Amino acid sequence: MIRNAPQDANNPLSSLDDWDDDVRRRYAVEPDPSHAKKADAFRDYGDSVPLHVREFYRINHQHQTVEFVRAARDKYLPLRTRRMGIWEAVEFLNQLVDDSDPDIQLPQIAHAMQTAEAIRADGHPRWFILTGLLHDMGKVLCLFGEPQWAVTGDTFPVGCRYSEKIVFHEYFHANPDWESPEYQSESGIYEPGCGLDKVLMSWGHDEYLYYVVKDYLPVEAQYMIRYHSFYPGHREREYQHLMDERDREMFRWVRKFNPYDLYTKTDRAPDVQELLPFYRDLVAEFFPPVIDW
Ligand SMILES: [Fe+2]
Ligand SMILES: [Fe+2]
Repeated sequence: MIRNAPQDANNPLSSLDDWDDDVRRRYAVEPDPSHAKKADAFRDYGDSVPLHVREFYRINHQHQTVEFVRAARDKYLPLRTRRMGIWEAVEFLNQLVDDSDPDIQLPQIAHAMQTAEAIRADGHPRWFILTGLLHDMGKVLCLFGEPQWAVTGDTFPVGCRYSEKIVFHEYFHANPDWESPEYQSESGIYEPGCGLDKVLMSWGHDEYLYYVVKDYLPVEAQYMIRYHSFYPGHREREYQHLMDERDREMFRWVRKFNPYDLYTKTDRAPDVQELLPFYRDLVAEFFPPVIDW
């Protein structure tokens, strides 16, 4: 059994889920408006963040450079790391055991199914349910040996000025790109309005999975997967100057997806065995038995 990456200087989180939990704290607003967090709650955010999560952001912001992103894309986007089916990838991902949470045996498939089940309960189309199931599977990068800061975290464009609304913006001072005038103008190396497809995003599970599944899913699903951690874009509405019309249209779908990602972490684990036949049919409807990773 492979544990989650051992905690060390490169992997400060005890589990990849620590980041997701932190995003929930930051952005999840209680459905009951009397409990709603104030809109500017994140401004006080720094003090309430556990040290290990803060450390995670520090090394993420320091290391996600243009050069690093280009190298990661060259390494992974030819999709020659592995050939496996979706279910094999689920099995693989379940080897990531959450050390901090001994009661949940299969944390990754549990979050995937809870997200998908919430989407299904709201009567959304089958491709949308499937997107809920798949959206975090790019975390297999961790099992390919990538450090946490190159797998998870809020994503943001590299090669242009960092939005001040990116959480822990001050940590970018340690990023070598901070010193590059070329990378720190508002649009940086990009043409204004060029569209996000031309923009290099910080490397992680979102961008990777987008490339793995894009030929099999509708464009709305591709956007949900590719930008679900791009909180500076879909939540803070930054980087509008790099988007084109299609991005703006499609970000409505990214925003539609986000609550299912944020709100579906419950203590009650889904009955994976009972749900499996439905999801096996769903996966087989869209995917061949084996795909490139
Ligand atoms: Fe994710
Ligand atoms: Fe998620």
